[in-house]
Amino acid sequence: MQELRIRRPDDWHLHLRDGAALKAVLPFTAQRFARAIVMPNLTPPVTTTAAALAYRERILAALPAGAQFTPLMTLYLTDLTTPAEIDRALDSGAVYGAKLYPAGATTHSEAGVSDVRRLDAVLERMAERGLPLLVHGEVTAAEVDVFDREARFIDLVLAPLVERTPTLRVVFEHVSTRAAVAYVCAARAGVAATVTPQHMLLNRNAMFRGGLRPHLYCLPVLKTENDRVAIIEAVASGNPRFFLGTDSAPHARHTKENACGCAGIFSAHAGIELYAEAFEQAGMLARLEDFAASFGADFYRLPRNTATLRLQRRDWSPPAHYGFGEHTLVPWRAGESIAWSLAP
Ligand code: NCD
Ligand code: ZN
Repeated sequence: MQELRIRRPDDWHLHLRDGAALKAVLPFTAQRFARAIVMPNLTPPVTTTAAALAYRERILAALPAGAQFTPLMTLYLTDLTTPAEIDRALDSGAVYGAKLYPAGATTHSEAGVSDVRRLDAVLERMAERGLPLLVHGEVTAAEVDVFDREARFIDLVLAPLVERTPTLRVVFEHVSTRAAVAYVCAARAGVAATVTPQHMLLNRNAMFRGGLRPHLYCLPVLKTENDRVAIIEAVASGNPRFFLGTDSAPHARHTKENACGCAGIFSAHAGIELYAEAFEQAGMLARLEDFAASFGADFYRLPRNTATLRLQRRDWSPPAHYGFGEHTLVPWRAGESIAWSLAP
């Protein structure tokens, strides 16, 4: 059986939720990843350092006994965030990024930023003190086609912001288009991107295969095959600007299988295995370790992990659902198969 031993990976974009949901999903991530950048889009969002520290304690309390996992907290930027809050975040030593959600772009983003120019002083302070800006890169205007929202965001918001604040480090989260890949490759130093397993493995046809597939609906929405290939090529090139961020985003089954279903794919149960599959398909398994365990740590200026993780090329089938507090959660590939497993 083929086995792969890699440096233990980190997940640079993860939704853990809170309460019983947190307790249900956290073990999957902690089993695989040494650290994760934890997204702040709770209700209410994590807009202050105090809230981030309290959330961090709840995550630590929810960890299974013996788990080796460190949550890296983030702040949720709003129109009202102040430079002083950035100082508090950095002084705490527990906050590793601040997230820009354009208001209304995705799940729990109602309190997001209405006009990034309001954040100039905040971004200036982040640049000075070295706190990365994490960006959900989609415009929200209802008249913009949903498949064009990422490309439009680059021109209207991201590129000008990156040039205005020349020393700010920026992560373009979950890139989904050829345009985003091209932008990141050509941007100034200090601009990077996370890549999800769904945007490496699927194109938008997957959402409509044999009928509407709500569990494959996420934001940014899956794009064309041409876009997917661009993402694979960027990762295959070994460009350190592209690193792992699952964007695992759990939602209770009834909120996905709904007349107005939530965006988000749950992938934490196979958070490294799905990438192994994608890398194998693209003939680039040798690139997996740097993508999963080196480039992200380097970007965030954190030490690389020293522990290792072993994967085996052995098929398994995720269950129809997992428990999710009083509800259930449908994992990606439920009842289908995944080509790689964690070694026992
Ligand atoms: C995320 C969620 O559910 O919190 N959903 C998603 O489709 N990715 C939010 C986000 O990252 O956009
Ligand atoms: Zn996300």
